[in-house]
Amino acid sequence: MLALVSVFSFYNFTIYTNSDAQYETPLSDKALHGQELWQRNNCFSCHQLYGLGGYLGPDLTNVFSAENKGPEYIKAFLNSGIKTMPKFHFSEAEKEAIVTFLKEVDASGYYPNYNATIQSDGWVDIEYKDAK
Ligand code: HEC
Repeated sequence: MLALVSVFSFYNFTIYTNSDAQYETPLSDKALHGQELWQRNNCFSCHQLYGLGGYLGPDLTNVFSAENKGPEYIKAFLNSGIKTMPKFHFSEAEKEAIVTFLKEVDASGYYPNYNATIQSDGWVDIEYKDAK
């Protein structure tokens, strides 16, 4: 029993003091503020990032860099709301923080990361997008 307890203690000690396992967020402070607003206002209940989240609204992974979209477009939706999306009363700084969060998410990659086209013979042609 003592041996088991010792092994368990040693195991715990190595796991919880291993600095490699500590997650470092790549987000800037401003983006972290935006992420906090994103979570506190339940954007996730309707929107997805990398395909994960609610499905009332669209995936927002690449809304920042999408053609004809971007910072002003995102802010306009926050100001006015649309369909089931409520109007939010964010300050200019809060809107900036949310836009920065979505900008840094966008810079991390694509979702989906491929274009798929169905050929006439039934095969699917998959073209992967380069990592950002
Ligand atoms: C109750 C559901 C709901 C919540 C909560 C919500 N949204 Fe939306 N959102 C929607 C819907 C629905 C649309 C419009 C989809 C459409 O164009 O038909 C939308 C559209 C958007 C768009 C435009 C997307 C595009 O590609 O055109 C952005 C940006 C956006 N929302 C950001 C947010 C942010 C940021 C939050 C949190 C602060 C949020 N939304 C919270 C439902 C929601």
